[in-house]
Amino acid sequence: MYRIAPSLLSADFARLGDEVKNVVAAGADLIHFDVMDNHYVPNLTIGPLVCAALRPHTTVPIDVHLMVKPVDRIIPDFAKAGANIISFHPEASEHIDRTISLIKEQGCKAGLVFNPATPLDYLDHVLDKLDLVLIMSVNPGFGGQSFIPGALAKLRAVRARIAASGRDIWLEIDGGVKTDNIAEIARAGADTFVAGSAIFGAPDYQATIRKMRGELAAL
Ligand code: DX5
Ligand code: ZN
Repeated sequence: MYRIAPSLLSADFARLGDEVKNVVAAGADLIHFDVMDNHYVPNLTIGPLVCAALRPHTTVPIDVHLMVKPVDRIIPDFAKAGANIISFHPEASEHIDRTISLIKEQGCKAGLVFNPATPLDYLDHVLDKLDLVLIMSVNPGFGGQSFIPGALAKLRAVRARIAASGRDIWLEIDGGVKTDNIAEIARAGADTFVAGSAIFGAPDYQATIRKMRGELAAL
């Protein structure tokens, strides 16, 4: 019911293959793969070549979070690199409906990402095509930022929309998720939790993921 998605952004980039294996052994359900282009967001990270290189090291789904603009050209590259889920920001696409179709044509699940100041109105028109909604609880670009509390109301609003749709759409939260706020975030409706610094910044990945699951189990 709940999924933990460690973000590689806070992993040791010199040892990414081992980091993926270790965090999956520690109980990760997904690998969250943050792609930044120094244009849509003010940081530069990893691309399809790294995704393809990591793919043989794990069988868990790779959850690609595209923070790039434009977005369409790079989508087939990530599909070929073994991505399972591809999410993008509406501000980064001229034609949101077309981008969603492109992701699905490539055989991947499609997600739409909402920044802290992005309204949910886009969901009026595309929720029925989405597999995942990702709510940002920080402004995208960097790990280790603090959770913006306004994301909780947004999660509640999206959870209501998903329930009304009757479809099994994942509701993911990204930014500032820690062991001490994950329960409150789950109560607001999230079922999939990205955590970068909370997991990779701690010495024992398994202990941290267990603590998170313990908080969720107590709900
Ligand atoms: C931020 C990224 C996040 C980031 C989260 O733009 O999308 O996935 O890694 O990092 P933490 O969990 O440290 O806030
Ligand atoms: Zn992310």
